[in-house]
Amino acid sequence: MEVYTHDIAIVGAGLAGLRAAIAASEISKNLDIAVVSKVYPMRSHSVCAQGGTAAVMREGDSYELHAYDTVKGSDFLADQDVVEFFVKMASMELIKLEHWGMPWSRTEDGKIAQRAFGGHSFNRTCYSADLVGFQEMHTLYGRALAYDSIKFYDEWFVSSLIAEEGRAKGVTAIELKTGRMCAFRAKVIIMATGGACRIYRFTTYSHTATGDGMALAYRAGVPLEDMEFVQFHPTALVPSGVLISEAARGEGGYLLNGKNERFMEKYAKEKMELAPRDIVSRAEMIEMMEGRAFVGPDGPYLALDLTHLGEGKINERLPFIREVAQRLVNVDPAREHIPVAPAAHYSMGGIRADIRAATPLPHLFAAGECACLSLHGANRLGSNSTAECLVFGAVAGEEAAKLALSSTLPDLPNDRLREEEKRVFDQVLGNEGGERVPELRKEMSNIMNDKVWIFRDEQGLTDAVREIRALKERFRRAKVEDSSRLFNLGLVNALELDFMLDLAEVTAFSALNRRESRGAHSRLDYPERNDREWLKHTLAYYTQGGPRLEYTPVTITKWRPVERKY
Ligand code: FUM
Repeated sequence: MEVYTHDIAIVGAGLAGLRAAIAASEISKNLDIAVVSKVYPMRSHSVCAQGGTAAVMREGDSYELHAYDTVKGSDFLADQDVVEFFVKMASMELIKLEHWGMPWSRTEDGKIAQRAFGGHSFNRTCYSADLVGFQEMHTLYGRALAYDSIKFYDEWFVSSLIAEEGRAKGVTAIELKTGRMCAFRAKVIIMATGGACRIYRFTTYSHTATGDGMALAYRAGVPLEDMEFVQFHPTALVPSGVLISEAARGEGGYLLNGKNERFMEKYAKEKMELAPRDIVSRAEMIEMMEGRAFVGPDGPYLALDLTHLGEGKINERLPFIREVAQRLVNVDPAREHIPVAPAAHYSMGGIRADIRAATPLPHLFAAGECACLSLHGANRLGSNSTAECLVFGAVAGEEAAKLALSSTLPDLPNDRLREEEKRVFDQVLGNEGGERVPELRKEMSNIMNDKVWIFRDEQGLTDAVREIRALKERFRRAKVEDSSRLFNLGLVNALELDFMLDLAEVTAFSALNRRESRGAHSRLDYPERNDREWLKHTLAYYTQGGPRLEYTPVTITKWRPVERKY
């Protein structure tokens, strides 16, 4: 097998991956960095981020306020040392992007414009209309291309993480164009592959965002943390699930039920539509379950009303939302309501990593949505995610660079490489069983939607774990219809499904075992938060028979948990 050698291998070319590559290059131009991605960088899911990036930029706001909003938003599960570090670094990252040419929207006096977002007590979400991820990605990609030390491997699918002798040593990857498997040998690996919400049927995610890095790390023995906490975004377009940015509510949009009532008044009197996402999504579910929603051919939905904002404001601040609604459901938000419902949007959990983005596996770092640094706890605030990608992408890049400068290159175990080739090409591609990958994927996402959704209970979660395990068994007999090696997306989909089945199992199993309600994890049978027993993080370790769970304390620096009201 051909082996590519680099000082640092970054898996994923979204916001966190690109930011990590730039940060590592800035530490030393002599470092040789690979960015390996299954899509072209500008097709990464980060491009879909819309509403903005949170940072303290103005008088009247403060790090203390941003930190407390984040901790309260997290339902007190966030590690507070991480939060305090994050809020300070976020402002610096925003200014860096400004210097690198990011086309922010501006105030009349030329400052970076900021808007309201849910759960933030100050208008601190910096934006570029409603195309923030797209513009940030262009800015970072342009910057990364300026470094000769960064080599992009576009359309390479990473199939396994090679860990041996207590450290990460490299990855195996399939070059999609040729179908050949190669290995990447590196002193340090950074995972930056995004979240896992494609395990659900109704989601705001791109089809390619399948949580691969989480599964790669998990299978290599790294624990996945807090996977039961999945964020449901209150405004996904019905029926596709395409995101309708929270910016629409930040700019003044209302949510209406089928009786044309602004129902959020009942659930969060003060913050209304700008309560945190866990609260708004639950409110929407209750309105739907109790028969107060609109009902269309695709089921119940709520209405997002922007008509009172006027065409001028919509065109200036929310042009993408207008285009999406017009193109996909033939609704002009300047004149009509947008049909919306809650959709799986963000993985609060992920690869366990510390404040330096280091995972428990030496020489492996993780950043962005695939990582769990415990910044968001049980519920993330909108616009803290792109900021996290920038802050901890940079941290991961810097730390990886420092480690690479003081490390030697590892040798890769040939037997492991051969085994991986056999697994992918003989067991998966060569499988002649009677099961079909798209059918198994559909069944998995239905189970997650029906039993591991916004409201959960013991019976549903127990069934979900059992049913996902049955799907894992059936996957062993899954046939890939296209048996060729060249750009075989059927093979990619099969490998992704294999990863997602593990992640679905960990999510359902962690949710089953957390017998309380906190943030986005709402148990109908345990409706209260229970700090006495559950103020702790879940750690899920891979075993052949399914995840083994351990728990670890939350870091509290100054904010003791109190009742969370909005
Ligand atoms: O609604 C949005 O624009 C999403 C933002 C986020 O998830 O942070």
